Amino acid sequence: MEPPAHHLADLIELHRGLPREGPGDAAFARELLRSLPPLPAQPRIADLGCGSGAGALLLAEHFRVPVRAVDTAAVLLDELRERAAARGLAHLITPVLADMGALDWPPASLDVLWSEGAAYSLGFEQALTRWRALLADGGVAVVSEMTWFTETPPAAARDFWATAYPTLGTEAQNLRRVQRAGFKLIDMRRLPAACWWTSYYGPLRERIAQLAPGTVDPAVLRETAEEIALFEAHSDAYGYVFYVLAAA
Ligand SMILES: C[S@@+](CC[C@H](N)C(=O)[O-])C[C@H]1O[C@@H](n2cnc3c(N)ncnc32)[C@H](O)[C@@H]1O
Repeated sequence: MEPPAHHLADLIELHRGLPREGPGDAAFARELLRSLPPLPAQPRIADLGCGSGAGALLLAEHFRVPVRAVDTAAVLLDELRERAAARGLAHLITPVLADMGALDWPPASLDVLWSEGAAYSLGFEQALTRWRALLADGGVAVVSEMTWFTETPPAAARDFWATAYPTLGTEAQNLRRVQRAGFKLIDMRRLPAACWWTSYYGPLRERIAQLAPGTVDPAVLRETAEEIALFEAHSDAYGYVFYVLAAA
């Protein structure tokens, strides 16, 4: 999950033009948004680790208010600009080229803090700890995180993630991290495995099949194929969980 620096350009090239850079799903997210507790009429919103903006665009469409979209990858923010313009949402999207772990925004400056498939790059607990002060009372943080669904994962999955993401936790472990970071849980939803295929791995597989040889480092393609095969075999043992949080 956490790419060595020399892989980053290949990973970005691999994902170029895809609807998203990590597991997630528009219909799933819309349903989650409809279930949120009442928020201010004009909520202040940010999508942290937005990539090319799957979440930011959906948030802008849903709330019809400005959305700050933060990422360190300028090329993905450029893609977001193009997608926002194509969907008539450019006036609502503010791309921010910045480290989401070191935002100098004032305390309590967000009513909706959204982050899909990105907290892992800081570590789930570290990300939550750094973001806590940004969330206003009465606001919500929606943060997705890869999570074990079992205390006893199959050896193949355990070994793969022990290297790729050693702090991968169970739901119980992550709830303790949530509390230590100063949040309380409002809701917790597992992203159905089918969404991984329709919205992420499916398009990613097609892209890999169409890539001209030499475009992306073969080692990155092999690692990606391994990750996809692992999920195909063991999606009952792990997946993404959307943690819906409020300030404790
Ligand atoms: C797996 S992608 C998910 C992108 C998008 N949220 C989605 O679901 O399609 C993770 C994103 O987090 C960004 N990222 C990683 N570390 C970051 C940091 N410290 N600050 C800002 N963005 C970061 C990466 O550049 C990448 O675009």
